[in-house]
Amino acid sequence: MDDLRKIERDVKMTDIKITARNVNVHYGSTHAIKDVNAEIADKTVTAFIGPSGCGKSTFLRCLNRMNDTIDVCRVEGDIKIDGKNIYAKTVDPVQLRAQVGMVFQKPNPFPKSIYDNIAYGPRIHGLSRSKAELDEIVEKALRRGAIWDEVKDRLKESGTGLSGGQQQRLCIARAIATEPEVLLMDEPCSALDPIATAQVEELIDELRRDYSVVIVTHSMQQAARVSQKTAFFHLGQMVEFGDTDQIFTNPKDPRTESYITGRIG
Ligand SMILES: Nc1ncnc2c1ncn2[C@@H]1O[C@H](COP(=O)(O)OP(=O)(O)O)[C@@H](O)[C@H]1O
Ligand SMILES: [Mg+2]
Repeated sequence: MDDLRKIERDVKMTDIKITARNVNVHYGSTHAIKDVNAEIADKTVTAFIGPSGCGKSTFLRCLNRMNDTIDVCRVEGDIKIDGKNIYAKTVDPVQLRAQVGMVFQKPNPFPKSIYDNIAYGPRIHGLSRSKAELDEIVEKALRRGAIWDEVKDRLKESGTGLSGGQQQRLCIARAIATEPEVLLMDEPCSALDPIATAQVEELIDELRRDYSVVIVTHSMQQAARVSQKTAFFHLGQMVEFGDTDQIFTNPKDPRTESYITGRIG
């Protein structure tokens, strides 16, 4: 019986959330992603690392169809979340982006109140039936974004008046408010000071309990600190993907080794 429970738990921890098969991305004549295959786990932080221009952001944007918004961009291949093809004609990209939330490099709160920043998505997607319910959703998202205590007395003030680190946690809370299952973060700390970075990293570690988190980072130290899985990209290829410990201590591909030892990038 105990064995069975252990097996169930192990299976849960290695549940695959996202499957990518033969993904190729072109911007006009630039071949930015070359035949990438990957399986991204649930309840895990996966880091994408690699030199500038290697395709990290491009591949990340494939996962919530954000590349659809770029005219010259063409995505080929197969990407499934929970076994469902996210590029199927029946999938509404706006709905998909609520399910697969995204946080960007530069904190981008709406020029609205802190409350309205969080309430925006739930209102659009009809997640609450009353003001009281919406209040609850807003509080819960701000708590999970680890910023409630700092803003609970100033919910009517503008989100743009917060510090950079607070703005980024507000944006994470905003992404959480629509009850996503996956959170994508593209260099979420690169505009933040070391203290704000540490707070966001701590938050990312907590979010892993509930979500599949994928983070692009140019900092190998950050990847080592926050992720359990790491993918190394180089010239549009996913060269190596494995446990973060293994990638940093015992890389299999010479290109990965060159990068982590500082010889390329
Ligand atoms: N909007 C775009 N239009 C045209 N080319 C782009 C666009 N975004 C990225 N690229 C190109 O795609 C390649 C990968 O870029 P990107 O995914 O931004 O890399 P990374 O995030 O690893 O720095 C680069 O050659 C870059 O110039
Ligand atoms: Mg990028």
